[in-house]
Amino acid sequence: MNLVTKVSSGILLGLVWGSVVMAAPDIEAGKQRAAMCFNCHGAGGNSQNPNVPSLAGQKPAYLANQLRAFREGTRTNGMMQNMAGGLSNEEINNIAAFLASLPSKSAGGESALAKKGQSKVTLCFGCHGSGAKGMGVTPKLAGQHPAYLQRQLAAFKDGSRKNGPMRGIANMLSDDDIIAVTEYLGSLQ
Ligand code: HEC
Ligand code: HEC
Repeated sequence: MNLVTKVSSGILLGLVWGSVVMAAPDIEAGKQRAAMCFNCHGAGGNSQNPNVPSLAGQKPAYLANQLRAFREGTRTNGMMQNMAGGLSNEEINNIAAFLASLPSKSAGGESALAKKGQSKVTLCFGCHGSGAKGMGVTPKLAGQHPAYLQRQLAAFKDGSRKNGPMRGIANMLSDDDIIAVTEYLGSLQ
């Protein structure tokens, strides 16, 4: 083997190894890094504050996308841009894998409104998965705080939150629909 072949096969091995390491998140490292997140997001990632989302059991690819969006400023929120600003891609993947592994608790929803919302969520399940349990980069909505979901739908509507296909969908919902749909989603497990 000449030097060029040796060097290039070394680089190739390095690249393959590097991608294997990146592909396997370190849940234990994620746990250490995520300890302070629970100050706002609740013990075990189940938030007690209706304005702060629960993160336990959320889809890891969605969590990682949001943390990168806060870090890069494509999703705006003062608190979260500060929190995500210093995270590397590797730390983000570790944290996302850890949060996704935690058992989630349902926030609950107001039952009369939830009943009204039930007929309007079929469309949502197409992307958010059956029972809105999430799929890939599309978040779990089941059991999330209705007040938080309402604020996000309003942000998609007014264009202050831009990522993904949600602007058009949010624009199809009246303010009453948004309340009914989010109370229903919050009531799911
Ligand atoms: C000072 C309080 C605070 C701390 C600490 C905090 N967050 Fe947040 N986080 C928030 C708030 C408030 C929101 C909702 C932002 C919005 O309305 O868009 C949020 C949103 C998020 C979201 C988006 C969830 C979704 O459903 O779209 C993720 C992911 C997230 N935080 C992860 C973290 C991680 C990981 C940490 C720790 C490294 C952390 N947060 C620490 C307050 C906090
Ligand atoms: C065409 C696919 C699609 C459909 C249909 C859809 N969504 Fe979404 N939704 C997404 C994607 C993708 C995201 C993630 C956007 C991002 O990365 O910021 C999202 C994000 C959301 C969020 C933000 C959640 C969070 O944790 O911050 C809410 C709320 C939401 N959708 C509600 C709904 C509701 C309610 C419906 C049905 C009326 C619906 N979606 C239908 C694709 C869809």
